[in-house]
Amino acid sequence: MDTLHIELSQNLKEKPDVNNLGFGKFFSDHMLTMDYSLDAGWHDLKIIPYGPISLDPSAMVLHYGQEVFEGMKAYRTSSGEIVLFRPDMNLKRLNKSCERLSIPQVDESILLQGLSKLIRIDESWIPSGEENALYIRPFIIATEPCLGVRASHTYKLIVILSPVGSYYPEGIHPVSIYVEQRYVRAFRGGTGAAKTSSNYAASIKAQEEAKTSGYSQVLWLDGVESKYVEEVGSMNVFFKVNGEVITPALSGSILAGVTRDSVIALLQSWGVHVTERKISMEELAEAHRQGLLEEAFGTGTAAVISPIGSMRWGEAEMTIAGGHTGELARKLFDTITGIQRGQQEDPFGWIYSIR
Ligand code: COI
Repeated sequence: MDTLHIELSQNLKEKPDVNNLGFGKFFSDHMLTMDYSLDAGWHDLKIIPYGPISLDPSAMVLHYGQEVFEGMKAYRTSSGEIVLFRPDMNLKRLNKSCERLSIPQVDESILLQGLSKLIRIDESWIPSGEENALYIRPFIIATEPCLGVRASHTYKLIVILSPVGSYYPEGIHPVSIYVEQRYVRAFRGGTGAAKTSSNYAASIKAQEEAKTSGYSQVLWLDGVESKYVEEVGSMNVFFKVNGEVITPALSGSILAGVTRDSVIALLQSWGVHVTERKISMEELAEAHRQGLLEEAFGTGTAAVISPIGSMRWGEAEMTIAGGHTGELARKLFDTITGIQRGQQEDPFGWIYSIR
């Protein structure tokens, strides 16, 4: 990678208190950037001091939201190694999102080498602490100054690093969720399967209303009939019903989560029956009435595993697993974080070591 230019910061920042990181509030000393133009393609890969970027007020991303992003985490294992969890999947998904948003494809191996170098340079920002990690946020924005609605001719890719704690203040403790029937997050043919800012912008209003009513998360239903379960908050969702684990199939309107895929592989390796299919709220409510809804949990890079202790659907309030963290959610959390931190065997070869 002889084209990577590095400019080190002369002004290193003070590190935050690892006991009080929250999520995405602090940023490391450097960032990776790369530019795209029609003539040169992706070019000018560099690591520079973290700081504000200059954008033309007419930059297309500011008006029409042509943007994609990813979320990954770096960990320091007990033997001192720095590792990533399945980065190939994130980078593939970044390109799938690019494809949906008409953004030019990025060379995944160049990006992986570039962000690995960035993490090496800022490795002192990997926070110690059980639930802490260095969150990696790659994103691409449309930078062409133009108000026409079309694909931009120029883009900027940036990777920033943030030492984080648990995404939800509840951590591995159960969250209460509100089943959203008024707003939708995504619909068939839309951008629900892409990691793009507009999906998240569309979710904020419902999230705020749920919070006001005392719920910490929103469970999204399908955008056509408001009948079938899609995602919860910014995570994929799983239910254990009468011994079987069910998760919504990748219909095109939900995100193909890396943690989701890992959970399915782990459950199958443990001999648990997992099904990817449509699940209606009616089916879940009926299972709950019969005492068969044993567990529910969300999965995501930021949140890892987030157990669901209760669900509000219309007038029905359903308590799940007695409002406690279910056995399966706990085992999945321990296994995934154990693999990520090098405390457990990695039978699937998910760990990528940064040299
Ligand atoms: C992640 O889990 O990495 C996400 O991107 C969710 C996020 C919106 C915080």
